[in-house]
Amino acid sequence: MNHSDTASAQASVAGPVRLDLRFSLKSRLGERVSAPSRAKLKDFGPRAQEVADKLLQLQHEGRVGFARLDGEAWQVDAVVACAAKLRGLADTLLVLGIGGSALGARALQDALADDFNGVGGPRLVILDTLDPRRVMGCLASLDSSRTALAAISKSGGTLETISLFKLVQDWLSERQPADWRERVVLVTDPEKGAFRELAKSEGITSLPVPPDVGGRFSVLTAVGLLPAAFLGLPPGDFLAGARASGSLAEAASDPAWDYALVHHLWWAEGARVSALMSYRDGLSTLGDWFVQLWAESLGKHRPEGAYGWTPLALRGPADQHSILQLLQEGPRDKLLTMIRVHEDEPDVEIPIGEGAIANLGADLAGRRFREILGAEEAGTVAALVADGRPVIELHVAKLDPYHFGAIVAFFQRAVAYLGVLAGLDPFDQPGVEAGKRFASAILGRPGATETASRLAEVLDGRE
Ligand code: PA5
Repeated sequence: MNHSDTASAQASVAGPVRLDLRFSLKSRLGERVSAPSRAKLKDFGPRAQEVADKLLQLQHEGRVGFARLDGEAWQVDAVVACAAKLRGLADTLLVLGIGGSALGARALQDALADDFNGVGGPRLVILDTLDPRRVMGCLASLDSSRTALAAISKSGGTLETISLFKLVQDWLSERQPADWRERVVLVTDPEKGAFRELAKSEGITSLPVPPDVGGRFSVLTAVGLLPAAFLGLPPGDFLAGARASGSLAEAASDPAWDYALVHHLWWAEGARVSALMSYRDGLSTLGDWFVQLWAESLGKHRPEGAYGWTPLALRGPADQHSILQLLQEGPRDKLLTMIRVHEDEPDVEIPIGEGAIANLGADLAGRRFREILGAEEAGTVAALVADGRPVIELHVAKLDPYHFGAIVAFFQRAVAYLGVLAGLDPFDQPGVEAGKRFASAILGRPGATETASRLAEVLDGRE
């Protein structure tokens, strides 16, 4: 593409995450609305540190700690020791958690663990559902003598996680009466909540979730790092990559700032959908993690009107044959971020075949799958850019714990910047809490705060 009319090309070249804002000034969301100009992006330079200072102030007050990335305070040594102990007992870690307490672990296993490690190597089995079929099928597939259990809940009171824990503890203690306690770890708030109480009263090993790190921002704490360490992925590498990806202290040169700013400017022009896509299959569940981060952090009431992006997680090439049509020709209200990984990985060569098979796709014989995927990835970007549809490319050299940590920290800072730019609190989730309160009331749980009469009114559609 012609970089001379690019709004901001290669916003950051140093560090593990590099951005290309692949839209030109011809990019447009509608007939009138074109890409933010280079000058416009520059105008916001002074805002970067202002926004970051707000976040640093919250960090200073002990309210928002995700960017501290403090391995010592977050007890990473204890995480590593705990993982080693569990590995001595088991090769499967059954993880119970939901939302921010499960999505990060699933994403890192899918992105980083050897696809074939289920055969004898350490693996995570993650339950974030109460669907009885799925849960019972999962337990039936496990060998309890080779299983350890990590129950992860920052609050220690989440309905799904507590319910799963009671079931699985019962299953495990019945089958491994001698050492079930040794096989269990609770990852939870260091001071309060039902899991913390249980850890104390039963003498069960526990690891802390820092109180100032919210669920969807917690993958780089014990919440994600314990599962990572169990898989043999070094927690220190994740944190090193996260630190190298940029910082609130130098927001103006942080690629996450550029990413947030582009979203901010396009939102003002009518963009409402942010899609994340990759042609690495292992990154598809990182997309699920991104969906939670983007939706829960940014979908908020504001006095001046509701804000929010609808996040989409796209998996190439499958979604190229599906939802991509909507991005290509549907309403011009979307940004696509393509994660591109520049690493030679084990590859597969297409054989020539014999007889009639040799004539089938004869030009493909001898080509490699990654070559085809690379062409499809570049083709998708080219088709969108050619039609003036904005694409942001996020480049990383390889997929390893260092770069995974960098990607995660990048998105966490970006969503924090964007939330502040939009004038909302990206760290709360009152809508999610409301649903939890109503569910508790429906179940008649002790401590439910919605009254029966309020519940009846709402469910009957009466206000
Ligand atoms: O981002 C969030 O805060 C939520 O998605 C939580 O992670 C989710 O509700 C689970 O909460 P907890 O870890 O307290 O069980």
